[in-house]
Amino acid sequence: MKVWSFVFCLAITLYCKTEKLEYEERALQITREAKTNLSKKLMEAMKEGGTKKAIPFCHENALTFTESLGKKANVELKRISNRPRNPKNALTKEEKEIFSLVQNAKGKDGVFPNHLVSSDRAVTVFVPITIQGQCVQCHGKPEGMEKETKEILKTLYPNDLALGYEVGDLRGLFAVTFKK
Ligand code: HEC
Repeated sequence: MKVWSFVFCLAITLYCKTEKLEYEERALQITREAKTNLSKKLMEAMKEGGTKKAIPFCHENALTFTESLGKKANVELKRISNRPRNPKNALTKEEKEIFSLVQNAKGKDGVFPNHLVSSDRAVTVFVPITIQGQCVQCHGKPEGMEKETKEILKTLYPNDLALGYEVGDLRGLFAVTFKK
């Protein structure tokens, strides 16, 4: 009897682990694609007219574009941050705790971990977004940014919190929600 309950528990544990890995794998695939698509759009706008063109473009399209990429993959997709530029990307109370957890768990290799939250109705996978070289022209330290860029940002985002970052910093999280 004892052996059977052990085997049963083991099977359940293995099942849950596999399920968790599957969600994480799918989330990573979706966020990888979203990153590629978002940065492609950004680069196109930058090529056309630098930050002067790219910032208003992000202002108008980033949020709806992210949402539509999620819809296409049959999930809810959000980009959230503890220091949002667009207030609509701010963290909820629960997300604040998750953000701190991820931020404090930076590995020796500089990589932040993914985080998974599961309930009866949904699974949400949080995937870190880190600052790279090309991000600092719009999210870096103000003293190192172009005057025109700063002016446009100030006009479109008077309450901008997304400045002062350095390469490798945690900029935000993708939140990928799978409904069960
Ligand atoms: C041309 C300027 C520009 C560049 C370059 C840029 N961003 Fe942004 N970023 C913006 C703007 C503008 C927004 C606000 C979009 C909106 O209104 O939804 C934003 C929003 C975000 C958000 C959503 C959270 C928030 O603060 O509202 C994240 C995450 C983000 N950027 C990460 C990055 C990363 C990572 C890079 C580099 C790979 C990058 N950005 C490069 C202008 C830029």
